[in-house]
Amino acid sequence: MQPLPITDRSHLLVLTGAGVSAESGIPTFRDAGGLWEGRDVREVATWDGFAADPLRVWRFYSERRQAMADVAPNAAHRALAALEARLGDRFLLATQNIDGLHQAAGSQRVVELHGNLMRSRCSACDRAPFDDRQAYRAGVAPLCGRCRAAGKDAVLRPDVVWFGELLPPGALARVEAFGRAAGRELMFLAVGTSGLVEPAASLVDAVARLGGRTWLVNAEPPANAARFDHVALGAAGALLPTLLAA
Ligand code: OAD
Repeated sequence: MQPLPITDRSHLLVLTGAGVSAESGIPTFRDAGGLWEGRDVREVATWDGFAADPLRVWRFYSERRQAMADVAPNAAHRALAALEARLGDRFLLATQNIDGLHQAAGSQRVVELHGNLMRSRCSACDRAPFDDRQAYRAGVAPLCGRCRAAGKDAVLRPDVVWFGELLPPGALARVEAFGRAAGRELMFLAVGTSGLVEPAASLVDAVARLGGRTWLVNAEPPANAARFDHVALGAAGALLPTLLAA
């Protein structure tokens, strides 16, 4: 594939999924050996699963926090951050990833569609989500200090979006506003996502309706591959530095 034909008027919306972090050593969800393999996602990624067994859910996310200890951004994250440095406000990155690696690579205009692994929030009160890198010991479900001060026991939860939940307030609106402002100068690049989870999977159609052009970089053809104008199959870390070169 040729490098993306980015001009000084182009507006680039990027969508990333687990594949962009695979080369940093973080397992994807649906590939062989992925996080969902052999696991009932309802147990660890739905509100009902959390209500039924918060200890099991916290064990899962604590292990994921622990696994972040030695992880660093890869060439794909860095290529996207470098492109943002060139495009400024004509760039927006929407990620389904909760690992924070885009920000670690220097990306600033990031919309976290599914929250962030390294934040927690209360499952009962409306206190703002807060940084929390702690990997809790098995058998520990942390309690909300604010609720406790009010004489109530409420369990904290990771600040991530589970199946059946709404996206964080304002997340989609920011993406849509970017697309509308770009008009026909809109370009869309999806990287490392299986195209199975909404609303991210349908962004390609929304961009096409606005008259934008669409590119996909993925290790294998994802479910929605046919809806892209251009498809490059391969590893994001190998392809993005070339595709996004100046
Ligand atoms: P998936 O695991 O569903 O898909 C990852 C995609 O990345 C696959 O299509 C792989 O072929 C591709 N891939 C793997 N390694 C790659 C590499 N080095 N370079 C490029 N592509 C590579 O992950 P997502 O699409 O991100 O949501 O999953 C979407 C959502 O489903 C996640 O955010 C998560 C999950 O359930 C929640 O937990 C709410």
